[in-house]
Amino acid sequence: MYRLEPPILAVNFKNFDAAIGKKALQLARDAEVIAQETGVAVVVAPSTPTLLYVTSNCRLPVFAQHSDPGVAEASTGFLPVRTLLDNGVVGSLVNHSEHRIAQDAVKNLVDELRHWGLLSMVCAATPEEAGAFATLAPDIVALEPPELIGTGRAVSRVSPDVVSRGVEAVGKVDPHMTVLCGAGITTAEDVRAAVALGAKGVLVASAVVKATDSKQKMLQLADALRRATRV
Ligand code: G3P
Repeated sequence: MYRLEPPILAVNFKNFDAAIGKKALQLARDAEVIAQETGVAVVVAPSTPTLLYVTSNCRLPVFAQHSDPGVAEASTGFLPVRTLLDNGVVGSLVNHSEHRIAQDAVKNLVDELRHWGLLSMVCAATPEEAGAFATLAPDIVALEPPELIGTGRAVSRVSPDVVSRGVEAVGKVDPHMTVLCGAGITTAEDVRAAVALGAKGVLVASAVVKATDSKQKMLQLADALRRATRV
């Protein structure tokens, strides 16, 4: 299993035009440089069709944006967990707000990912959900209130209580579990606020992928993470 040490800057490429096809690799390579320069664990989640292309050409930890539990070989159009390994992927987002799955599927997916030695990053919409998902023993819980996703209004500053309650809820289940927060994270100040609330990193998409200079934006966020988590 890949060892992912916080602080973590996780960048979800979604299906943004700026990160599809060959553009995914440029963004991932930029992320690789930022990881090397700052020492922060930068994780990328490129779109499904670009996974092998990205993992074959850069050395960052790559997550799938989604995968499907319990999928037979004779199946069509799903992303079976076991196929992630052959695609060089180290883990998968689970239950992202833009790809919600049933509660029992979350459990099955976390279990199956672990079975194959892959990391799970389970997305929760509320602090209560974060606590409930923590009982499934995923590697990471990412708390993202859906109403703030893509708004540029950072959860860590607009709804700090949501982050602190989420960190507390997960901590009650397992004080060592990594909690990230996401939704609207845009600036170094947003990152500092997230860390001050107990998050071990951030999950970000539009502020990086749609930036005029994505590399510079990743540097800004990773550097803020590094400084904020330095003891
Ligand atoms: O997966 C990260 C995402 O949902 C947050 O999106 O654009 O608000 O950073 P964004």
